[in-house]
Amino acid sequence: TPSNALEQLRMTGKVVVVTGAADGIGLAVTEAMAEAGAHVVLWYNSNKAAIEKSQDLAKKHNVKSAAHQVDVSDSTQVSGTIAKVVQEFGKIDAFVANAGMAISRPILEQTLPEYQKQMSVNVDGIVYCAKYVGEVFQRQGFGNLIITSSMSGHVVNVPVDQPVYNATKAYVTHFGKSLAREWREFARVNIVSPGFFDTKMGASPLCINEAYRMSSLGRQGHVKEIKGLYLYLASDASTYMTGSDVIIDGGYTL
Ligand code: NAI
Repeated sequence: TPSNALEQLRMTGKVVVVTGAADGIGLAVTEAMAEAGAHVVLWYNSNKAAIEKSQDLAKKHNVKSAAHQVDVSDSTQVSGTIAKVVQEFGKIDAFVANAGMAISRPILEQTLPEYQKQMSVNVDGIVYCAKYVGEVFQRQGFGNLIITSSMSGHVVNVPVDQPVYNATKAYVTHFGKSLAREWREFARVNIVSPGFFDTKMGASPLCINEAYRMSSLGRQGHVKEIKGLYLYLASDASTYMTGSDVIIDGGYTL
């Protein structure tokens, strides 16, 4: 590892996979990785803009890229696509398990399929990605997993009713910490817990108002204000960091 901090942040030659890469936080994170010189693999679900985006990033930053359509709640798709990435790029240095969704309604108004949907994307999706990329990391003898959780895995973000979502995030935070221990000999695992960010998920007036009223900075975060954190965690600037859960919430959960 170089001792120069800027050099440590350089990702030249590294291969980074990001899920939920077509939108919001995932897209900003993918940009950060390409800007730092990494080859980037964009996993998207329905938003095919990821294909063009991946080509743009490759051209603009002179890196390799790919875009794969993957439903992270389907274990076969996850394991198959991870194998495809390894075949195409030869390795995976960092994997950002970022895809997620929320249904914002009291539990008494949610249907069981709505409950199950959130569990399958936010919990199963993270577990499948971790399990199959973990096999690659173990084989390689190196790797770096970053999980996008949420501050709502720590606090109930009144007045937004997201009981199941909140619990899925508490799950993946603790799961990530457990993996940091389990994989200590070959990979690092860290968790990012964002507060209110101005993405599709954060677009409701409830989120905007709550960030305005209750966060210390009095506003939502912009995705450009979170990408550097993921770059730091994916890079050699953070080689002593594993099992950490970084809250980035404009001073909401104080
Ligand atoms: P977003 O809605 O813009 O992006 C979510 C992404 O996940 C989309 O690209 C979507 O296609 C993808 N996705 C959803 N279901 C999928 C599936 N089954 N398979 C594959 N991909 C799937 O929202 P945002 O904010 O960028 O969300 C990214 C992560 O950040 C999520 O895990 C979310 O829970 C988390 N987060 C967001 C906060 C916010 O205020 N925006 C706050 C705290 C956490």
